[in-house]
Amino acid sequence: MSMNIAPPDHRDELQFILDDVYRRGLDQRDGALADYIPELARVEPESFGIAIATAKGKVYAVGDAEVAFTIQSVSKAFGYCLAIEQIGRAQVLQRVGVEPSGDAFNAIEFDPHTRRPYNPMVNAGAITVAGILHDRFGDGAFDFMMDRFSRAAGRPLGFDEKVYRSESETGHRNRAIAHLLLAGGIISEAVEAIVDLYFRQCSILVTAVDLARMGATLANMGENPMTGDQVFELQAVRDTQAVMFSCGMYDYSGNWIYDIGIPAKSGVGGGIVGVVNRQLGIGTYSPRLDRKGNSVRGVAAVAALSDELGLHAF
Ligand code: DON
Repeated sequence: MSMNIAPPDHRDELQFILDDVYRRGLDQRDGALADYIPELARVEPESFGIAIATAKGKVYAVGDAEVAFTIQSVSKAFGYCLAIEQIGRAQVLQRVGVEPSGDAFNAIEFDPHTRRPYNPMVNAGAITVAGILHDRFGDGAFDFMMDRFSRAAGRPLGFDEKVYRSESETGHRNRAIAHLLLAGGIISEAVEAIVDLYFRQCSILVTAVDLARMGATLANMGENPMTGDQVFELQAVRDTQAVMFSCGMYDYSGNWIYDIGIPAKSGVGGGIVGVVNRQLGIGTYSPRLDRKGNSVRGVAAVAALSDELGLHAF
C-alpha cells in the first residue's frame, strides 16, 4: 500500500527517506560512463542526484539534483506521448508496436510479420516516432518537442550542442536502423532529417528535478501540477505509461517490473524518470551505467524508494 505522499506534516519524513536513499546509493560503485557517444564520456562520473515531485506540486531533492545532463532515451517516452496525440494511437500502432523486445536498446530487430519496431522505447521505435513527428511538423518538429518537454518540466530546457554533434558524427548504427525503417516502409524518405530530430531530442538538457517534474506531469494525467498547464493528452499519457511499464528499461524491463513495479524510462546520459500514477514523479541522475545501459545508482535509488514508500504497483 502506498503512503500518502507529502501532506505538509510529512514533509520532513519524505526528505528524510530521500536523504537516506541517497546515502545508500553512494555506496554503489559499479558501472561505467557511456562512451560510444564520445562526448558522453566527459561528464563527472560521481554525480548523483534524486528528486521527487508530487502530483500536488511539491518537490523534494537531494545531491546533484540540479546538475544538467542530456535526456537521451528518456525522451523516447515523451516523444511517444506526442506522436499519439498528433496522429492517434491506431495510426501510431501501425508503425510501431508495444511488445517488449527483450533486446538491447540499439538492436537491429523488427517484427518479422509487420516490419514494425517492437516498441517505441528501443532506438528503432523512437526513430519511427521521430519520423511521425517529422512528417507532421517538418523542420518545426524539434521546436514542437522542445516546447512540450519544457512545459512538462515547467521551465525552458537547454540543449547540449556538443553532445548533439558528437552523436551526429558517430551515430552510424542509428542511421543504419533508419534506412532499414525506410526500406520497410515505416518512415518516409527524409531519413537524415528524421535521424537528426532523434539526435536533437536526445541532446535536450535536463536535471533530476526536471525529470521528476516531467514524471509528475504524466502522473497528474498530463497536467503539470506546478504550473496547471495541460501539457499532454490523457489517452496518450495512459498509453505512454503502459509502454514505459513494459518496455522502459530495455532488456531489464521484466526484472524491473517484478522488483520495482513503477513505469520508468532510462537514458544513457544517466537519467531515469519514474511515474507513480496519480501520485508522483521520480527523477534520478548518475551517469555510471550497467551493461544494459541503465544508471547503476539510479536503479538502486528508484528500487529503494519503491520499497520504502510502497510504490510497487502490486
Ligand atoms: O541513440 C542512442 O544511442 C542515444 N541517443 C540514446 C540511447 C539511450 O539512451 C539508451 N539508454 N539507455
